[in-house]
Amino acid sequence: MIIGIDKLGFYTPPYALDMETLAEARGVEPAKYTIGIGQTQMALVPITQDIVSMAANAAQTMLTEEDKSAIDMILFGTETGIDHSKSAAVYLQNLLGLSNRVRAAEIKHACYGATAALQLAKGHIMLNPDSKVLVIASDIAKYGLNSGGEPTQGAGAVAILVSANPKLISLDNATSFFTDDVMDFWRPTYAAYPYVDGKYSNEQYIRFFEQVWTDYKEKTGLDFKDYAALCFHLPYSKMGLKALKPLLEEEDAAVQDRLLARYQEGTIYNRLVGNIYTGSLFLSLISLLENSQSLSVGDRIGFFSYGSGAVGEFFSGQLVEGFQEHLNQEMHKDLLEQRQALSVEEYETMFADTIQVTDQEQDFTDRPDSSHFRLAGIKDHKRLYSASGNKLFK
Ligand code: COA
Repeated sequence: MIIGIDKLGFYTPPYALDMETLAEARGVEPAKYTIGIGQTQMALVPITQDIVSMAANAAQTMLTEEDKSAIDMILFGTETGIDHSKSAAVYLQNLLGLSNRVRAAEIKHACYGATAALQLAKGHIMLNPDSKVLVIASDIAKYGLNSGGEPTQGAGAVAILVSANPKLISLDNATSFFTDDVMDFWRPTYAAYPYVDGKYSNEQYIRFFEQVWTDYKEKTGLDFKDYAALCFHLPYSKMGLKALKPLLEEEDAAVQDRLLARYQEGTIYNRLVGNIYTGSLFLSLISLLENSQSLSVGDRIGFFSYGSGAVGEFFSGQLVEGFQEHLNQEMHKDLLEQRQALSVEEYETMFADTIQVTDQEQDFTDRPDSSHFRLAGIKDHKRLYSASGNKLFK
């Protein structure tokens, strides 16, 4: 049975900060952010967007009524949980009007959660070929003002519809994963921002890529020459290159040129959005598919997923007949281009505007946000969402 990615949806909030502007305010050479780290802008998240509303915005752009009735599982990958108990997937079932006969759960492992979800979805479709699974990757990456990780912040969601006979990519069965208990990045339940050893996390990312790539090669006999493109988890757009380049050195020039050119195409959107944790790998895939003129049916794409803590996985897929007809270039380019550029002062104000722990009702409906779904407020410690101005939630 052919199982894979049927559709991809993406959402990022309608505000952004230029990295050169941030660099100037922080007294840093702008080229460090734009070239050294490889980021041009970062997405800024208003109080009206959280992981649920972002996920709903990403999913609603791609789901037809037929898809909705076929979905019987929602797996929500995130490391920006809004509740220790209630799963974000349940809110989504309601907001998107999905059937109650759906299995819904949240999956956490840093930036790896959505890859775990994708693999579980594959198994579910194998047993239930007529089903579709909605996999979500939705996160807000906040390291803190003036922190080392500040230029690698971002926010956004990717929605992935997994099915048999997919319209975009068939996923190969072979996969290679590696888990090791390392403290490179973690966020204790009492902390607003993660603890991160930036340099160490870079090293672990590179080590995990070597591990899973070598293992995958041995298992499958596939090598770099067999790939049209590779997509990486991208905490910032330079990260994947640090892992890839040393291993590519022994390949012939044509293979190197091809993979490096596709790598750049797969980082165009990420450079404008920043880190979206679980969604970064899949945003890179969307960027590649929507910006490359060099991909053809049957081309194999490799994926490296990394979640600090840490888990790494390498897996592959092949582009299926007609994939070009199921992309949303215009919609995604508009989403990115129509964002409002904020000043550093406005960014810092938005950054500090967070949900209060209080018994009082909090109403965000007067805050500007053009997105379809938004967080309208909080009442009795329950989140209230709205769709284009209409309160939907109890
Ligand atoms: N022009 C061009 N490049 C410049 C530059 C300039 N003026 N100044 C610095 N750079 C380069 C550095 O040489 C370095 O490149 P390299 O990584 O290829 O050596 C890069 O910019 C970053 O500089 P560095 O001094 O290492 O930055 P930093 O100490 O501020 O840390 C991170 C960078 C990514 C580690 C930090 O932002 C972080 O902790 N991020 C969050 C964690 C993370 O994303 N981890 C990734 C694995 S999941």
